[in-house]
Amino acid sequence: MGTLQDMKLAVTGKGGVGKTTLSAGLASLFVQDGRDVVAIDADPDTNLALALGIPPAVAETITPLSQKRDLIRDRMGAAGGEGGGFVTLNPKVDDIAEAYGIDASGVKLLVLGAVRKGGAGCACPENVLLQTLFDHLIVESDQVVIADMEAGIEHLGRATARGVDMLIVVAEPTRAAIHTAQTIRRLAEDVSIERLGLVVNKVRGPEQPQQVAEAVGGISLLGSLAWHDDLAAAAFDGTPVAATPVLQEVAHIKQAIEGVLATG
Ligand SMILES: Nc1ncnc2c1ncn2[C@@H]1O[C@H](COP(=O)(O)OP(=O)(O)OP(=O)(O)O)[C@@H](O)[C@H]1O
Ligand SMILES: [Mg+2]
Repeated sequence: MGTLQDMKLAVTGKGGVGKTTLSAGLASLFVQDGRDVVAIDADPDTNLALALGIPPAVAETITPLSQKRDLIRDRMGAAGGEGGGFVTLNPKVDDIAEAYGIDASGVKLLVLGAVRKGGAGCACPENVLLQTLFDHLIVESDQVVIADMEAGIEHLGRATARGVDMLIVVAEPTRAAIHTAQTIRRLAEDVSIERLGLVVNKVRGPEQPQQVAEAVGGISLLGSLAWHDDLAAAAFDGTPVAATPVLQEVAHIKQAIEGVLATG
């Protein structure tokens, strides 16, 4: 792999372990490198916007793509929330990051928003559009794409999973987070994701990263982030992750990712 032109990273792990913190930090660091970065907020309930430094008052006004009825009607032939009808299964999505990405200090942020749950077979227009967009960004775009996902890899169908350069699993030193990481590892095997990397967050002692890595098993350790008292406060007052001391540690994790990907 000569150039690192595009890079597709998906970040997952149990709720609250630090997926958004890591995603925002990585996105900011890739922008500092001069890369073209798209950050996907694929968790219906998250705040990647805040972590990227969009002021709370502005973040509140962001309409997720799943609720942009005009866009959905334009691309799908039927609006979100409309049942029945005939919707295309191959909508145009290759211009959406450019047109709808929100600039967050150079990162293009796409907030997908919640989609209606309708079982695996649901072809609600907004679901089809968002899934097609997600697949496009992972498989076809020539950008650095960082997807901040829910605790799971539901967004990664088999074809898309193969486009992910690395699935980054975040865990903290708790049984629950370790258990979720193990579940994700098994799911990743099922869809043939080749490279996984573990990040241990909220570390309070030098032995913890290795302990968690051993407990999870089967995912190589990329690095860790120490517990930072000021991070929760930063999240509250809207300080971007890039302006907090944790960024230095995220930079080490970024180096580890690049190292793994460079050696194939
Ligand atoms: N290393 C750390 N030290 C202290 N607090 C942290 C650390 N990492 C993250 N946090 C805080 O923990 C909370 C959860 O972090 P974050 O939102 O990044 O997790 P998440 O996995 O994205 O959560 P969710 O599942 O709710 O989306 C936030 O308030 C964040 O500021
Ligand atoms: Mg989050």
